[in-house]
Amino acid sequence: MSRIYELTLEAPPGDIITYDPERLADAMRIDDPSRLAIEAMGSQALVTIYPADPLADVRLPGPELLAMDERGRIWIGSYHNGRRVHVQLYDPVSGSAQRLLLFGTTGAGKSTGGQVLLAGMKRSGIATFYGDLKEGQSAPEARGQVDWAVYSQEGVIAQLHTAWCVMRERAARYAAAGRSKFLRDRPDPLLYVVIDEANRLLEKGAPYRDLATFYIKDIGRTGRSLGVGIALFAQAGHLDELGGSDTMRAMLKEGEVLLLRWTSSMMQTLVADGLLPAGQKLAPIPKKAGATRLVSQFETEAADDRPGTQGTGYHLSGPYPGAKMRFFRVGSPIPTEGLDPEMLALYGDDPHAVLEKASWPAAGRAYADKLDGADAYNAAFPPPDTDGEEGGGRSRSSGGAPAAPGRPQTAARLTIADRVQAALEGADGDMDAHALLEAVNADGGRPVKLGSIRNALSNLR
Ligand SMILES: Nc1ncnc2c1ncn2[C@@H]1O[C@H](COP(=O)(O)OP(=O)(O)OP(=O)(O)O)[C@@H](O)[C@H]1O
Ligand SMILES: [Mg+2]
Repeated sequence: MSRIYELTLEAPPGDIITYDPERLADAMRIDDPSRLAIEAMGSQALVTIYPADPLADVRLPGPELLAMDERGRIWIGSYHNGRRVHVQLYDPVSGSAQRLLLFGTTGAGKSTGGQVLLAGMKRSGIATFYGDLKEGQSAPEARGQVDWAVYSQEGVIAQLHTAWCVMRERAARYAAAGRSKFLRDRPDPLLYVVIDEANRLLEKGAPYRDLATFYIKDIGRTGRSLGVGIALFAQAGHLDELGGSDTMRAMLKEGEVLLLRWTSSMMQTLVADGLLPAGQKLAPIPKKAGATRLVSQFETEAADDRPGTQGTGYHLSGPYPGAKMRFFRVGSPIPTEGLDPEMLALYGDDPHAVLEKASWPAAGRAYADKLDGADAYNAAFPPPDTDGEEGGGRSRSSGGAPAAPGRPQTAARLTIADRVQAALEGADGDMDAHALLEAVNADGGRPVKLGSIRNALSNLR
């Protein structure tokens, strides 16, 4: 039985095909649902029955193939039908960086898939700020393969702040040069901020939630045309857990979105937000592939050696949102002691890209010294009683508890005019002073009064 069967189904016009993957498999006497691929869209559906799980072993022919193609896309894996899954990190037509979200429950394969992306970034000459809020456990091989790696909330906030400063520096530089769009590597590289376990940064009660939300929103909106992209890997039961309602929604609507094994509430949010076409249902990804059956107590117990489904999911923003896909299987099959050589091979031996020199002053000491923890935070947001990074003075605290959360939550060095400008840049349409007041007061910084907004506006004018 090695044939592939493909059925095309069509409902009468006006009807939408809905289905229950498990029932369908059962009705067709398919005991292993991983052999079945169903894609339904409106009144049409495509059902494919494979002799065996088509995604059991998705292999990357060679690590050099992870480099971006001419359309700014990285090849990350395969659809069930063998077609390639690409994620776009740069749009050469509009000259813009992208936003990327990789969702999945714990163990779904976010960090490992994330390494495929990081290796692709490295091989594409992208300068990457990588933050892992699991203290470096998520992707130990990434250290040294990215421009700046951090492993603390303070480090991640410093990276976001730095990328934001670089973004504004580039804006000024490009404006002075009369350029309206970003041209990759001419002369500046793409810059990406990648945050693994972003849920720990953005969940309710997280120490820098508001500040992080401000930066993510602003980089998401304005960074695109300045070659500054952002990628978040997160587990979340609900989008609202991640920094409040609109931050993720805006990213979801326009960004690259990959969904690995999920929880049901997550799926409901995605459907409610219109990310999936009405009526479209994604076949859930079980934790393990292969058939299950009832085993009587009188039979000998067999070991459950069914393979896992890590890395399997859907590329929701891609051309086939309902088609099951899988990241390349990467790394050594058996866990290695220390760094995994196969994972390292993904990145290759070439040096990684670094941020352009012209932006180093704007990036400041946190970037220059590749700081992490409280040191990074204090360099990015110098406490009022030190000289700060420009003076080269060491900050008060080194390691230990951050001096941070008590301090004003928006970048300490932002003036009201800066914040007004950021809100204006991020606006979808015209804003009056009241709308601006609301936007500025939502950026996580010190509360501002209407009069100050009006003053800042007339100064800006
Ligand atoms: N693409 C892949 N290729 C090979 N193995 C994978 C892949 N994705 C996941 N795995 C395996 O599954 C395990 C869990 O994956 P990973 O750590 O990437 O999940 P995660 O979603 O980041 O989980 P967590 O939420 O706990 O951080 C890995 O240790 C690895 O063994
Ligand atoms: Mg992880």
